[in-house]
Amino acid sequence: MSFSIGSLTFDGSAVLAPLASVTSAPFRQVCLEHGCSYAVTEMVSSEALVRDVRGAIVRMDRAPSERVLAVQLFGADPATMARSAAIAVERAGAAIVDVNMGCPVRKILGVGAGVALMREPELAQSIVRAMVQACGDSAAVTVKMRAGWDDGSMNAPEIARRVVDAGARAITVHARTRDQVHSGSSRWDVVRQVKQTVGVTVVGNGGVKSAADAAAMMRDTGCDAVMIGRGALGNPWVFESIRSGQPRVPSIEERFAVIRRHLALYIEQFGERVAAREMRKHLCWYLRGLPGSAVVRASLQTMGSSGQMQEVIGSFEAALLRGDTRADPGDFKERAVEQGD
Ligand SMILES: Cc1cc2nc3c(=O)[nH]c(=O)nc-3n(C[C@H](O)[C@H](O)[C@H](O)COP(=O)(O)O)c2cc1C
Repeated sequence: MSFSIGSLTFDGSAVLAPLASVTSAPFRQVCLEHGCSYAVTEMVSSEALVRDVRGAIVRMDRAPSERVLAVQLFGADPATMARSAAIAVERAGAAIVDVNMGCPVRKILGVGAGVALMREPELAQSIVRAMVQACGDSAAVTVKMRAGWDDGSMNAPEIARRVVDAGARAITVHARTRDQVHSGSSRWDVVRQVKQTVGVTVVGNGGVKSAADAAAMMRDTGCDAVMIGRGALGNPWVFESIRSGQPRVPSIEERFAVIRRHLALYIEQFGERVAAREMRKHLCWYLRGLPGSAVVRASLQTMGSSGQMQEVIGSFEAALLRGDTRADPGDFKERAVEQGD
């Protein structure tokens, strides 16, 4: 399986979705190591990039083996979006600059960005045209949109046609409306309509959590690849599974090796304190469903040092390998109490 975006070619058929506060470089690296075709940064404010805000610049940091850096931008002003796209290309080396036309969060809608752009087709088109001009041949501009604003306006095919006319090289469709936010049935028919409307690569997104889901979405919609968001949380193996077409359940050793790798990448890039804070949610996802993990997950939430985290993770892994899950809750509660949590 492979697909292309402009002159870029990718192996496989599954992309890691942009997820605010989640898809920083360490998680993108872990997913790339498990077979995702490429990964998208969390959304970055175009205004903040133009003002050279450090927090925004850092979001574009490349993961160690990231061949293609895909930076997602949000904003509603064509000139600012164009300038920020040029910054993403020149400063960070982005080869894909993605436009957020799907975010339903009030703060983003308040500035006319995210899915609000789907109600302004001409503005959406002007933004993409300006960005394509700013990027030239250095990067492909792509757009991630929703099926539409609500049931009465599922205009993804029209927006897709307009932005492709303006030079967009790929379209991702999150097959839900703004009203649905992140739940409710996916509108795969809209993904199919978009694929029938435009001649560029179409990536289907929404509710894909397994190889079977990915195969079904590609078969039913004709999309070229799928994008995975929540299905990858604590489960980078989903990308291997989609490549092989088989379910993939990691062993305990594999799971903990990835946890340690993820934590080490965080420490390397952001230092101990940020690593401890940011890894809490990832650890909850990695440990979800393991016997005795509820108490461990609770104790990890208040840990301020990655050293403490490593210790608790190591003891929990050892207990699981011994099959000693009976003793886990007490042991870990004690440990958490000892640490003053
Ligand atoms: C916590 C969270 C953060 C998200 N952040 C972004 C974002 O920064 N940019 C974006 O385009 N979509 C964002 N999304 C939407 C996802 O990229 C994706 O479209 C959505 O979760 C549906 O895919 P899934 O069912 O595979 O999770 C976010 C979703 C979640 C749950």
